[in-house]
Amino acid sequence: MKDKCFLVTGSSSGIGLAITVKLLDAGAKVIGVARNHSRQKLEHKNHLTYSIDLNTSDNLEKKIKKIIEDNPEINGLVSNAGYGEFGPLENFSSKQISSFLSMNLTSHIIITKCLLPHFKKKQIGDIIFMGSEASLSGEKNGALYCSAKFGLRGFSQAISKDVSNSNIRVCIVNPGMVRTSFFDNLKFSPGADVNNAISEEDISNSVLSILKLGRNTVVDEINLSPLKKAVKFK
Ligand SMILES: NC(=O)c1ccc[n+]([C@@H]2O[C@H](COP(=O)([O-])OP(=O)(O)OC[C@H]3O[C@@H](n4cnc5c(N)ncnc54)[C@H](OP(=O)(O)O)[C@@H]3O)[C@@H](O)[C@H]2O)c1
Repeated sequence: MKDKCFLVTGSSSGIGLAITVKLLDAGAKVIGVARNHSRQKLEHKNHLTYSIDLNTSDNLEKKIKKIIEDNPEINGLVSNAGYGEFGPLENFSSKQISSFLSMNLTSHIIITKCLLPHFKKKQIGDIIFMGSEASLSGEKNGALYCSAKFGLRGFSQAISKDVSNSNIRVCIVNPGMVRTSFFDNLKFSPGADVNNAISEEDISNSVLSILKLGRNTVVDEINLSPLKKAVKFK
């Protein structure tokens, strides 16, 4: 992975942080993007961070283009940043709905749009989207979250077909519950048993193995589930 440089969004905690550590350990360079990197104390010569709110209302395109200009060696994207909102749809204002979809769907599309000309020029690129089991089936109280994650999966499938001629591989990873700060502000979390959650380590191992496959092979999608699904209500 020594010739690889990934833009990783949501690199400050949870799954994105685990993937960042895995990529750095494998010899890649990582440009991490999140609002607040102070939660992680990762110091590595190949790790650079940008503090950006990816909510698209704030001129996202310009900010991403600046990162690409500063770091022209970027040849991969792990589009992972996101948060959850669950509950009956009527509980959300129109503003909350727009803001949620802006962060959890539109920002992934805009970041990809910014990087594609760069990858096409280089004739190489790898894009990993962080989907969810909520990309695969609609669940009670998940109207908003499923809309974003289904949308991301549709985007991943479609864009993959548009870019394969430019040696750009696209994959979406769909995990079930992972014990991260994703659940801090939610009314539920994975059950207490170790078998009720997937580890961030296993997700990052999966991502690394996808990236290490020969360039003639694309993993379109992988689904990861905890051995025993159980939810704990707070
Ligand atoms: N945990 C699960 O069970 C699970 C399961 C399936 C899929 N996922 C998906 O995995 C991804 C990562 O979640 P996680 O579980 O690792 O949760 P997490 O620990 O809360 O991490 C979320 C990351 O997204 C970043 N982020 C959130 N809002 C942002 C914004 N407006 N601008 C920039 N960065 C923002 C956060 O950084 P800052 O707060 O510093 O900005 C953080 O680095 C999400 O897309 C989530 O939907 C999670």
